[in-house]
Formats: sequence, C-alpha cells, structure tokens
Amino acid sequence: QKGGFSTFMDKEIHDQPTAVADTLRGRIDEHGKLKLDEGLIADSVLNSIDKIVVIACGTAAYAGLVARYAIEHWTRIPVEVELAHEFRYRDPVVNVRTLVVALSQSGETMDTIMALRHAQQQGAPVIAIVNAQGSTIARESDAVLYTRAGPEIAVASTKAFLAQITAAYLLGIYLAELRGNKFPDEIRTLLAQLDEMPGKIQRVLDSAEPVRELARSLVDEGSVLFLGRHVGYPVALEGALKLKEIAYIHAEGFAAGELKHGPIALIDEGQPVFIILPSPRGRESLHSKVISNVQEVRARGARTFVIAEEGDTEAAEHAEQVFYVPASPVLMSPLLTVVPLQIFAHELASAKGLDVDQPRNLAKSVTVE
Ligand code: M6R
Repeated sequence: QKGGFSTFMDKEIHDQPTAVADTLRGRIDEHGKLKLDEGLIADSVLNSIDKIVVIACGTAAYAGLVARYAIEHWTRIPVEVELAHEFRYRDPVVNVRTLVVALSQSGETMDTIMALRHAQQQGAPVIAIVNAQGSTIARESDAVLYTRAGPEIAVASTKAFLAQITAAYLLGIYLAELRGNKFPDEIRTLLAQLDEMPGKIQRVLDSAEPVRELARSLVDEGSVLFLGRHVGYPVALEGALKLKEIAYIHAEGFAAGELKHGPIALIDEGQPVFIILPSPRGRESLHSKVISNVQEVRARGARTFVIAEEGDTEAAEHAEQVFYVPASPVLMSPLLTVVPLQIFAHELASAKGLDVDQPRNLAKSVTVE
C-alpha cells in the first residue's frame, strides 16, 4: 500500500506530480470551458458575482491563500480567504453575489460544513473543491470540482494541498475567461504553464537529498522559523504547520515584511530560518527585499536556509544553504517551493522516530466543531 515508501506521507509527497497532472487532465472542454464534476452554477450567476470567499481550515486554508493571489490577479474579483470556524461567527457579508468556495480534502470537516451552510442561508452560490468523492461538502454544494489526488492517508496533508491549488487555479482561469479578463491566448498560456508543473515537481523530488540531510542534522532543534512574501507567505505558513504537526517542533511562518514589526526579536544565535525567496525574474523589488530579510536575520545569528529558483545567483551569497527549484512563473512557484518543506518535516520527524502518519492528538478529518 505504501508503494515501497516508509510512510504514507512519503508516498503521498512522491504522488504529487501525478496528483497535479490528474487534477488538470481533461478539465477544459473544446470551448475553453471548465468542466465541473457535479452540479452547475450558471454563467449568468458567475458573471454577476462581485466577491469570492474561500472557506477552509488548516492546510486547505493555506491553499486558498495561495489561490487568492492568482484568482485576484487573473479575474480582478476580490478574494477573501477565511478560516471556516471564524467565518461563521462573525456575521460575514455574504449574499447572492458572493461565490463561496469550500475547500477541503476530506469534505467532512465540520467547521467547513457549518460555514458552507451559513453561506447558503445567505443565498450565496457554493462551489466545493474537494478530494473525497460524495463527501458531505460535495453533496451539499451547488457544484463540485474534484481534486484528483487519490486517497490521502497520512494525517499531514501534502498531495491534497498541491491538488487544491491546481483546482482553484483552474476555477480562476475559467472565471477570467468567462468574464473577459483574459484573451484566449493568455488562457492557453496559463494552462500550458500549469501543464509543465508535474514535471517540475518531479525534478524537486529527484533532487531532495540535501534537504533530508539538513533535516537529520536538526533533530534536536526546539524551534524553526519560516519566512515568505507574496505567494511565498502561505508556503511559509504551510512549512511551519507540517513541522508542528508531525515533528512536534515549535514552528512559525511569517510574512517576511512583518519581520521588523516584531518577529525579528525572536532571532538568536543559531536559530534556523527557512526563507522562500521570490524569483529574481518577478518583481525585482520583491526579490531584493527578501534578500535583505535574509541578511537581517543572518546578521543576528540565524542559520539561513533559502529556497530559491535555479539560476538565482544572488541567493547563495546570503544563505548558509540554498535549495533550488526549477524556474517557473511566480504564481506557479508555490507548487514547487512547498515540496522541500514537506520533505524536511517528514525526514525530521522520521529521524526523531515519530509516527509520521499518525501524529499525536490529530485526526485525519476533524468531524466535530
Ligand atoms: O479535510 P480538510 O482539507 O477539510 O482538512 C482541513 C484540515 O483539518 C487539514 O488540512 C489539516 O490542517 C491537516 N492535518 C494539515 O496537514
């Protein structure tokens, strides 16, 4: 069942190129229209929405945060991402013009189910992006776009995260086309960029041994910090969550720009810090700002481990160690930069002799509020 891997989580990390490829396969019909798996939200409704609200918990919420950058950029529709358990209790402004996206691997997360019902009571159309066929969230939503990651057994979500980003991107591309925000050739370019990602993810998996070595050398660490900016920010949050839940190490993800507003006080001699560096080919100022963050924490004694794009010649000057991922368009990069962080958490937890697939105190799906 584990396909020769030591844990389900390791297998699922290695399933990721397939999970993304399967989620993409055959999704756009000959007219460039997204094929939903179940249900329908009329184009007239999708044309009239003025806001998208993603409701989710944990890793699924981080996938939503990644997708926000892309969907807003492509569609110019404002996107909010909210933890489902917070959404419901704050009297959110949701109505018939709000597209609610319920994002969930299991489709059985009670917090997300309750938020979905609340949104529907306000008249909002709900689309589910779920992995589990026929799950409660799939059944109760107006339409469903399945992630095709296959069963995810390990409590720590990995392949579902990549598949969720992929499916949410497809929804964003579809809305952009429907609402006339993008020309057909731009849509084709975006889809072609997505199509290249499985091969690039495979390349990250094939070159991961240095990350494993680093993880084994850090088994006695009490705290690891993660910094990212733009799409790298939710990746930092996800890297920290993986480490907390399976290695029981205190870990925090921060927006790199927030460092000087407080978190930099945590930096002490020897503090390990992972930094997700934006591409130097993207907005130049963003790359140099995060390079400055690397310098700032290093000057205060941090050990700096940087995830950078291949060809980024500056990264190595400022880091103790750099882990390179293939070059990709900025919005596609989270599908690559999160992978070394998943592998790091898995290897560190394994080196500590922990039960990676069944971490203490956690259940695969949280079916109580
Ligand atoms: O099944 P869901 O995607 O709704 O689950 C949401 C979270 O409970 C889940 O992502 C959780 O945070 C994972 N253990 C993270 O690895």
